[in-house]
Amino acid sequence: MTTRTKTNRTIWLKESDKKVVQIIDQRFLPHQVVIKDLKNVDEVVVAIRDMQVRGAPLIGVAAGFGMYLASLHLSCGNCSLQMQEAGKHLKDARPTAVNLAHVVDRVLSAVSKLNNPDDIQKTTFQMAQDILNEDVQICKQIGEHGLHLIEDLSKKKNGEAVNVLTHCNAGWLACVEWGTATSPIYHALEQGIKVHVWVDETRPRRQGAHLTAWELGERGVPHTLISDNSSGYLMTRGLVDLVLVGTDRTTVTGDVANKIGTYMVALAAKDNQVPFYVSAPSSSIDWNMTDGFREIPIEKRSENEVKEIQGWCDGTFKKVKVAPERTPALNYAFDVTPRALVTGIITERGIAEARKESLLKLFPEKRGSI
Ligand code: MRU
Repeated sequence: MTTRTKTNRTIWLKESDKKVVQIIDQRFLPHQVVIKDLKNVDEVVVAIRDMQVRGAPLIGVAAGFGMYLASLHLSCGNCSLQMQEAGKHLKDARPTAVNLAHVVDRVLSAVSKLNNPDDIQKTTFQMAQDILNEDVQICKQIGEHGLHLIEDLSKKKNGEAVNVLTHCNAGWLACVEWGTATSPIYHALEQGIKVHVWVDETRPRRQGAHLTAWELGERGVPHTLISDNSSGYLMTRGLVDLVLVGTDRTTVTGDVANKIGTYMVALAAKDNQVPFYVSAPSSSIDWNMTDGFREIPIEKRSENEVKEIQGWCDGTFKKVKVAPERTPALNYAFDVTPRALVTGIITERGIAEARKESLLKLFPEKRGSI
């Protein structure tokens, strides 16, 4: 995949110093591409919490590097306890994306029997790179499976552009490369299939406007930015052929937590018979949860994100207030779309129906862990 910017990955180890992790600090996009150094686990925790890196898969990969950085600073004594504490801080940074917990538990389980800091460092170094490479591979596979959906729609439309609507950013900026929801789109374009993307602005943090629009533009993908409340109307006009979104946590039964507003898109899609697909790497599936509404922890963020808007003005970022000072605001970061509204779940192993048996058929090894 090629990008117009020099960077086509979201996170990596610094070439000249493998004890430093580098990220694209996404708070500055689309106006500036800022590369930030992270030197210890606390800086990774802050990067996740303040959304310098965001998107479920990328949060997971960042946590892998966070555990590696933690291993570089172990003091004498109980290494295992220190690693567990680092893992807890990382897990607490953002609660909804299950990828974070999956990675921390995986690393902790691998180092649990190691007492020597050198061994822990070697193990976490290798695991962080493995987790990163797996993410690239998984997103690529999601694209290969999802491509067929776009291909079929393109045939039905006799080669006319397929209009895909997406919410938030489930692109390469939310992962390492490819993205989850965007991967089928990038694969379709590589096959010469015409695609146009409706990009939901995604209030309050506007990941659609800041991130998805930027990354699609960087890769030359035809797209149009819309306000969040437009998607239903576009569907009633027959202007949306397919909805593709990502997920932060999907239960084994197919309930989908994703960026706030996804549920309303799914309702509109159902009412207009528009297929609604969720691109979900297995790292975003919670194999132990069966009831998305009762069990998925939904992050609440600062009310200022709703009451203020930040933008780029005269070469600098400025914040402006858009609500009365005294008005309280409520800011849930995610919602849950019930399985009944989900047409299918695109995983790295194929497309499943949004139900337990169908997901377990693709991932039979998970039966034992439920
Ligand atoms: O709050 P964010 O920006 O981390 O939310 C991101 C999303 O909701 C994405 O859709 C989700 O993480 C899937 S990313 C492949």
